[in-house]
This record gives sequence, structure tokens and C-alpha cells, in this order.
Amino acid sequence: MEKKAVYDTIAELYKQSKMLPFRLHIEQFTLLKLLGDVKEKTILDLACGEGIYSRKISSMGAARVVGVDISPKMIELARKAGTSGKSEFIVKDVETLGKIGKFDIAVGMYLMNYAKTPKQLMRFCRAVAINLKSGGRFVGFNDYPYNPQEKYGTYEKYGFKKSTVPARKEGDPITYYITTPDGREFQFDNFYLSPGTYEKAFKQAGFSSFSWEGPWLSKEGSINYPEGYWDDFMNHPPLCGMSSRKN
Ligand SMILES: C[S@@+](CC[C@H](N)C(=O)[O-])C[C@H]1O[C@@H](n2cnc3c(N)ncnc32)[C@H](O)[C@@H]1O
Repeated sequence: MEKKAVYDTIAELYKQSKMLPFRLHIEQFTLLKLLGDVKEKTILDLACGEGIYSRKISSMGAARVVGVDISPKMIELARKAGTSGKSEFIVKDVETLGKIGKFDIAVGMYLMNYAKTPKQLMRFCRAVAINLKSGGRFVGFNDYPYNPQEKYGTYEKYGFKKSTVPARKEGDPITYYITTPDGREFQFDNFYLSPGTYEKAFKQAGFSSFSWEGPWLSKEGSINYPEGYWDDFMNHPPLCGMSSRKN
């Protein structure tokens, strides 16, 4: 399937999957911790999807949020839902985005794992860099390349599992099978690139630092679920936060 069309067909299901507990207690919690105070800041939300985090960040007092996504259907949903503040949603491939502004913070919630090759990852990183002010930050959440592939099938209780080819290597697809809280199933592919490839791409694109961060579990998540419930996720994170600063 052409890359543009993938999320057009699963947009509604993907939105439903945002109700899974790990989304709130780990994914969102980690993002908010990485973001810090966004009041009066300008934010570029790359691969914004249907705008869940654009809306959240806008409601936290950001001066302006611009969301970009390759899927017209996702952007249609984002525009329909709107935001509480000043915002804009653009249909565009991040790879060819070019410079659209100078933002304080760029967000990439599951952007980088769409790169199939080191070159493509580099183009994503450059697109982030040219749209950031000097000293600006990139934060995100992503497939975690340190996740051992033997653990890919151990996340079903959280509503998803991952799968890849034997002896996964650069550019191999990682298929996510997701079950929504109301029991509907769908799947999509991300791509594996090694931790070294990530580090190199951020460095070469002009970032002074790059690190994998968390993932962190919210207090609410830890007290509202049985003891040990989050162990499989937290001991071998399938997904992880990321943070980088532009020179
Ligand atoms: C897993 S969804 C995440 C959406 C949103 N960030 C969230 O956390 O809900 C990934 C999104 O990346 C978008 N995407 C994939 N490749 C892209 C690209 N090259 N440029 C822009 N968006 C892209 C897809 O259309 C999809 O909406």
C-alpha cells in the first residue's frame, strides 16, 4: 500500500486505540514529562495524526500548535476536533516539509519509526532541525530499537503485539497488531533502524544531544492496576520516549 493511504484506512480504529490504558499512563505521561512547561511556546507536532497531542498541548497553554501529517483523513479528523487555542493542521510528508517556521519545540509521536532507511531518518531529522529555533528541543515517543525481538509477543494484555522477521535488521518491518478496547483489530508497519542509526541521524542533522527517555508510568496507572500488571511493558519497553536538543 502506498504510504499516504495507510492511515486513511485505519484512522478511526487508530483513534479508538488511543483509549487503551498504556496510551494514557505511559505514552502520554512520558510525553508530558519530556515536554515540561509549554505555556506561550510554539509547537510543531509532526505526524500529528488526528491531533490528540496537538489538542492536549494547546489546552496546556501553548501559544501556537501546528500539526503536520501525511494522511488527509487523519488531518480531516484533527481539523474537525479543533483545538482550544491557535492552531493549524497541514497535510504534508515530513520528509519534504521544508521550512515552515521557527518553533520552540517539535514533537514526533511515532514519526521516526516510519523511516525505512538511514537516509530517510536523516531527512526526518533535518526537517525537524530546520523548523526549530537554535536551542530548540525535539521530544517524541517511538518504537524502541533496544526492545529484544523475543519480547515482541509479550504485550497482548496491553492491547497490542509486535512482530518482525527472524534476525531483524536495518529497514525490516515491525508489524503492530492492535486490538481496540471494543475488540476490533487492525495492523500497520513501522520499520526497524538500529540505535546507532538514530544517534547518527540526529547528530548529523545538527542536534547536540540525543537520548532515549523513560518510558515512565504514571502514579495513577501504577495504583489503579494490579501489582505486576505493567512489568512486561516496563521491564522490556516496546516503545520509548526520545529527546534531542538543537545546537
Ligand atoms: C502511529 S500514528 C501517530 C499519530 C499521532 N502522533 C499520535 O500519537 O496519535 C503515525 C502517524 O504518522 C503519520 N505519518 C507516517 N509517515 C509520515 C510522513 N512521512 N510524514 C507525515 N506523517 C507521517 C501517519 O499518517 C500517522 O498519522
